[in-house]
Amino acid sequence: MLAYQMLFTLWLLLLLHVSASALKFDLFRKQPELQEGDIRLFGSGRDSEGRVEVYHSGKWGTVCDDGWDMAEAQVVCRQLRFPGAKSVVTGKDYGKASGPIWLDDLDCKGTEKYLSTCTFKGWGLTDCSHKEDVGVICETGGLNMGVDDSSHLLDHSVTLSDSLGLIFDSRQGCDFLIKARSVTEDRSQDGTLETVETEICTHKLIMSQFPSFNTSEGSTSITVSISQSCQPYFTSFIRYIYTRKIDVTFASAQCLHWMASKFGMKQLMEDTGRLFSKILPEDPSFQTQLSLYEYAEATGDLVLQENCIQFLAWNFQNLTKSPVWMTIPDKLLRAILARSDLVVYDEYSLLEVVESWIKEKGNSTSLETQAGILNQIRFPVIPAEKLYDLQFNSSLYSTFRNLYREKMLKAFQFNVLLLSKLRLDPRFSEQIEDYKPRVYTSELWSTVLDSSNLDTTYRTAPLRRNQYGLHDVYYGNYGQASVSFTTPFHHSMMFKAKSMAWRANVLRNQNECSMWGERCESFPVARLNNNNYNTQQDNIIYHNRLVLMCQGKYICQVQDFKGNLAYIPMNNETQTGYPCPDDQYTYYFVVRPEYV
Ligand SMILES: *[C@@H]1O[C@H](CO)[C@@H](O)[C@H](O)[C@H]1NC(C)=O
Ligand SMILES: *[C@@H]1O[C@H](CO)[C@@H](O)[C@H](O)[C@H]1NC(C)=O
Ligand SMILES: *[C@@H]1O[C@H](CO)[C@@H](O)[C@H](O)[C@H]1NC(C)=O
Ligand SMILES: *[C@@H]1O[C@H](CO)[C@@H](O)[C@H](O)[C@H]1NC(C)=O
Ligand SMILES: *[C@@H]1O[C@H](CO)[C@@H](O)[C@H](O)[C@H]1NC(C)=O
Repeated sequence: MLAYQMLFTLWLLLLLHVSASALKFDLFRKQPELQEGDIRLFGSGRDSEGRVEVYHSGKWGTVCDDGWDMAEAQVVCRQLRFPGAKSVVTGKDYGKASGPIWLDDLDCKGTEKYLSTCTFKGWGLTDCSHKEDVGVICETGGLNMGVDDSSHLLDHSVTLSDSLGLIFDSRQGCDFLIKARSVTEDRSQDGTLETVETEICTHKLIMSQFPSFNTSEGSTSITVSISQSCQPYFTSFIRYIYTRKIDVTFASAQCLHWMASKFGMKQLMEDTGRLFSKILPEDPSFQTQLSLYEYAEATGDLVLQENCIQFLAWNFQNLTKSPVWMTIPDKLLRAILARSDLVVYDEYSLLEVVESWIKEKGNSTSLETQAGILNQIRFPVIPAEKLYDLQFNSSLYSTFRNLYREKMLKAFQFNVLLLSKLRLDPRFSEQIEDYKPRVYTSELWSTVLDSSNLDTTYRTAPLRRNQYGLHDVYYGNYGQASVSFTTPFHHSMMFKAKSMAWRANVLRNQNECSMWGERCESFPVARLNNNNYNTQQDNIIYHNRLVLMCQGKYICQVQDFKGNLAYIPMNNETQTGYPCPDDQYTYYFVVRPEYV
């Protein structure tokens, strides 16, 4: 009878759950306001270990170790969204606390969601001293990527999901066993590879939503094989099937995405896929980005692949300085070099890092591959003097003499011939991309404004200088900053004597907008305006770009200027870029002339 009731409840919950059409979608909830009963692990520098502290009456306080064991520790770790507790430790190891001791004589069953819902004496009622403060180390889920992991809540739940979560946690009435097995790299005594297994008892009714669990009549269990690195996330993955809520970290995202695709959970797969945009900027070592790229390649996920390549192309400068640069596979390097939105100091510096990549790889890549990579360098937009020096300075010149010579010849032609002449040459139109600039951040082609010096005082003004002089900062009547600077008219030597004067600024409200004679649809908006524009004459147009660097750390957006303006997307509507907390941007204004 009990089992029947249980089944009925489940069925009801499931029905309501599935039929709720308005799914709450709270993709990027992160670090919400402090609330009564919140907890933290303090003093280790990591989120996953430390002295247990509870937030009560606006103050953090500690917990006494009387009555404390693993059940309490489990509640703490689960409340903090870790998979579980590893061990109980002494709080005073994490430095001496001084605030109140909020909790004493705790007694948890182990299934509570919040530590403060366990029974205890009463807030602040204690006979303990801070010597007895308790500490906990939580499981973090296996992979240690050496980077602070932050978690992102994916929540498709309706209110009932908490009850389903309790049903999952209690295992009550469960009738379908899922064994997740992975083969390890360790060998047992008879020489076979050892396996590890996680067993989870689930409810067939719930698992039957997904055919790949094979919950047909009469079956009572299934064994699935997953990779060992994904084992730590399997339980939270199955729990997601009940609750439609999951915390995704950049250690777990790849596994969750993989398990979601393996078991046919389209929504989880799409959402973790979208989460990758949030996760990509978080690893300055670029290991996550490369491993995601490999994963996208292996699974044929083109969207994720494009997302990774875009991030690497925008953040190419830092990629070349990172330890993984020399380990980049040639296929990925070629995909990056194919892009016009590659953000780089200038084309010559790109040639230099690519040459050093090729030299470092030595004979482990074929000469054809190496030549193919060099072929992607846009020689025509390298200044002629630097091209000339290549024959003396480039260590690859002798190996690829013919390639360099052919490239240089074409580049010199581009430098001295008019477009009308070049047009007659089919090689020009065939390889038109070779004649177009990428996104160059050198002083010659760009200027920069920082969100901290958009206002009144002359603080860290962008003291850039190029052959035409200093990039000058002005502060207008209303105190907002603008920079004026000068670039060549075009990359070709033909136009070297001509220059173009520009003014760059960021407009933050309607007032500033009307002052500059613009009609703006939203704010902030970047403006880049030339002062002596005459396109008709020379068949040159400018496809300028705005590059946004986030918090001085990574490039989160590359936008086209339409007319004089480039809108800066709000974080909640970013589609192609990467999120930037607090909208703390550095604005690069990049001038890009092209023949038409
Ligand atoms: C589920 O059943 C199908 C068909 O009976 C079978 O091909 C498949 O291997 C089963 N899956 C698992 C994980 O056992
Ligand atoms: C690399 O290849 C070049 C040309 O094929 C050859 O001359 C050279 O000896 C090779 N170097 C090594 C270390 O194999
Ligand atoms: C080539 O080397 C010479 C001498 O070392 C140097 O003066 C020159 O700047 C180099 N050219 C380039 C383009 O780096
Ligand atoms: C690259 O890395 C350096 C230091 O590691 C950092 O200061 C810089 O802001 C990073 N980002 C970009 C886009 O250059
Ligand atoms: C993004 O947030 C802004 C301000 O909070 C709001 O006005 C706008 O409608 C939001 N856009 C979307 C697509 O949700």
